[in-house]
Amino acid sequence: MEKSYISIENVSKVFQTRKHSIAALKDISMRFEKGEFVSIVGPSGCGKSTIIRMVDDIIKPTEGSITVDGFTYDNNVPLSSEQIQKLGFIFQIPNLYPWFTVKENVMLPLKIYGKDLKEYDERANSLLDGVGMLEYANAYPAEISGGMSQRIGVIRGMIHSPDILMMDEPYGALDESTRETLNMELLKIWKDTGTTIIFITHNVEEAVLLSERVYVMESHPGRVIADIKIDLGEERTLDLIGEERFGEYCTEIENLIGKIELAKIK
Ligand SMILES: Nc1ncnc2c1ncn2[C@@H]1O[C@H](COP(=O)(O)OP(=O)(O)O)[C@@H](O)[C@H]1O
Ligand SMILES: [Mg+2]
Repeated sequence: MEKSYISIENVSKVFQTRKHSIAALKDISMRFEKGEFVSIVGPSGCGKSTIIRMVDDIIKPTEGSITVDGFTYDNNVPLSSEQIQKLGFIFQIPNLYPWFTVKENVMLPLKIYGKDLKEYDERANSLLDGVGMLEYANAYPAEISGGMSQRIGVIRGMIHSPDILMMDEPYGALDESTRETLNMELLKIWKDTGTTIIFITHNVEEAVLLSERVYVMESHPGRVIADIKIDLGEERTLDLIGEERFGEYCTEIENLIGKIELAKIK
């Protein structure tokens, strides 16, 4: 079969702890086309983070293969710098360095990749401006709120213009209106850049609003139970939330997740 831009094929992951072996993922396959916006939803512990950590080469699959842009990962060899730079990762917790300013934190990946910081100065400012943080560029993390730190975490993952952006429940405890603002900003960036986005969330409405496709997973062991195409057109605005079709998609996905939870209780 022809490979997709990102292909996860028959991947299983077993974590060995001292006492147990945990089957985190069992024989999952996923594909992501170039420029696609795909969300992954599912109960806590179903292996969502594990999947994108494998694509980011932080952890290795126990079985199966991962191919990104024509390159199949080798479990014994770390990714090359060129391959790493295609990837951007936005974590659940922003983990800013307290001794660097906001802007220095945003620029940090560039330093790691050995880029010329001056070339990215304008981009950093424009990303900061986009999330309303330009006036805090020279502040230190201790001087800004948790929500602001989260926004900085988001743009730090984008600073090097990655081809693939993986977002692991990136908004943490941000309030609803900040999430909405960031999501609309994210859609704009996605449209402007053609970045491939893999977005993990437990918020079904958020997944439907943003995505072209949603993978639904179940846990113990983690498996993919549905791959749902979201036909809500190209123009995604908050107005969609009131529409009937939007509600139908949310209900469909919530029912899928709900059924699993119910079956587990029985
Ligand atoms: N480093 C690890 N060591 C042991 N178990 C782990 C490790 N990372 C994840 N797990 C287990 O694997 C399963 C999937 O975890 P995770 O990918 O974090 O799920 P999710 O992101 O969907 O909540 C869980 O049961 C979790 O406890
Ligand atoms: Mg997780």
